[in-house]
Amino acid sequence: MTSLATALAGTRYQSYVYAYPHKTAYRRLTPAVPLGPLWAGERRDALFLYIHVPFCEQRCGFCNLFTRPVPPEQLVDAYVATLARQAGVVRRALDEGGAFAFARAAIGGGTPTYLDARQLARVFELVAAMGAARGVPMSVETSPETALPDRLAVVVGGGADRISIGVQSFVDDECRAVNRPQRAAEVHRALRAIRDAGPATLNVDLMYGLPGQTAASWQTTLLSVLEYRPEELYLYPLYVRPLTTLGKKASSTADRVQIALYEQGRAMLLAAGYHQVSLRMFRRGGAAGTGPVYCCQDDGMIGIGCGARSYTRGLHYSSEWAVGARGVRDIIDRWIERTDDELAVADYGFVLDADEQRRRWLILSLLSDAGLDLAAYRARFGSDSGDDFPVLAELASRDLATCDEHTLALTELGLAHADVIGPWLYSDTVRARMAEFELT
Ligand SMILES: C[S@@+](CC[C@H](N)C(=O)[O-])C[C@H]1O[C@@H](n2cnc3c(N)ncnc32)[C@H](O)[C@@H]1O
Ligand code: SF4
Repeated sequence: MTSLATALAGTRYQSYVYAYPHKTAYRRLTPAVPLGPLWAGERRDALFLYIHVPFCEQRCGFCNLFTRPVPPEQLVDAYVATLARQAGVVRRALDEGGAFAFARAAIGGGTPTYLDARQLARVFELVAAMGAARGVPMSVETSPETALPDRLAVVVGGGADRISIGVQSFVDDECRAVNRPQRAAEVHRALRAIRDAGPATLNVDLMYGLPGQTAASWQTTLLSVLEYRPEELYLYPLYVRPLTTLGKKASSTADRVQIALYEQGRAMLLAAGYHQVSLRMFRRGGAAGTGPVYCCQDDGMIGIGCGARSYTRGLHYSSEWAVGARGVRDIIDRWIERTDDELAVADYGFVLDADEQRRRWLILSLLSDAGLDLAAYRARFGSDSGDDFPVLAELASRDLATCDEHTLALTELGLAHADVIGPWLYSDTVRARMAEFELT
């Protein structure tokens, strides 16, 4: 394990820990694991349904999400057809274990509203066919160009109560500099259209550290977004990732610039009445939250679609991952052709032993404002987090965390270093697998 001092000496924005283990630690599972028996042994009364739509109007220069820009129209229809087929297969596998219920749902991407209204309606039919009751909290991602009234009507009519839109910046030149040909006028139109469609929660993603971004232009972006009083805001530091256009140019923004922009953004949002939930996430005071996007209790995640991940307690699985155009295209093309039998097994993933399950719980709890509930950890694992992870004491000794008899929580300084603390807690196995992974 790297020492905390070494980790803190590196960049503050090492990687965004939104899941553990990272998908670059996944490998082929042999033999493949049948889904029926796998899910029969799980807690099934509060599952999370996630549907992935791996299509976008362009490939933004910073983005390494699993997505294909401007796919052929017939591919999109074929994709939606396989999604529906997979939903049927997975539903039957779940039924083998008896009763189950979904507590939350999300449709993400890529850009789900890249699908037209007819295709989106089919996706909502499959959400219902999977057994997600109307009224469960449901979030859907969109983009400025595709947040069109007819599509938003299907999304909200289908039961989504949260819409999350990627804006990144209200400054056209900053978007152009990262291969995102987006105009502020289009962003305003999209935000008005979402407010008109009326979901309870609007979330907006913004980015800091973009090429050419200054304190003044960042302020313009923040003031513009605040006009819409979003219930939630994500401020992402720009991460420059392998195989993205920015990654190939090896361009990056100095840490000190990003840190100053972080502090500026955080101060503005706190002054505007927002509460900081994690390094990236802010929620407006009084706004009803649907909770952090990932919480530790979310073991029961059923992912539908190519690129979607599924989590049981002891196994995380998905289809393969790529970033480059050819790699993504090949994976989607093969996935569409999968037989029902192939869709009924997990064949690529990561087996979490007892240590990895504890680490996952620890990392995901610690990185959000609620922190690690010591009693909940003990109840779940039958041991104390301090005994399992003696290195945690180092966090308190550096003022990165505080611990009382109930909770271990990051301090303000710790939250600002969440992208260092998360990877520092990775196991050696996960670290080694991530390092060996060959990205295509
Ligand atoms: C699925 S997208 C949001 C919806 C839609 N595709 C869009 O871009 O408008 C996920 C979000 O992740 C963030 N993101 C993706 N890659 C990033 C990177 N390299 N650095 C920082 N943020 C990133 C962006 O803010 C983006 O809005
Ligand atoms: S940021 Fe959004 S629109 Fe851009 S490539 Fe990534 S998923 Fe697609």
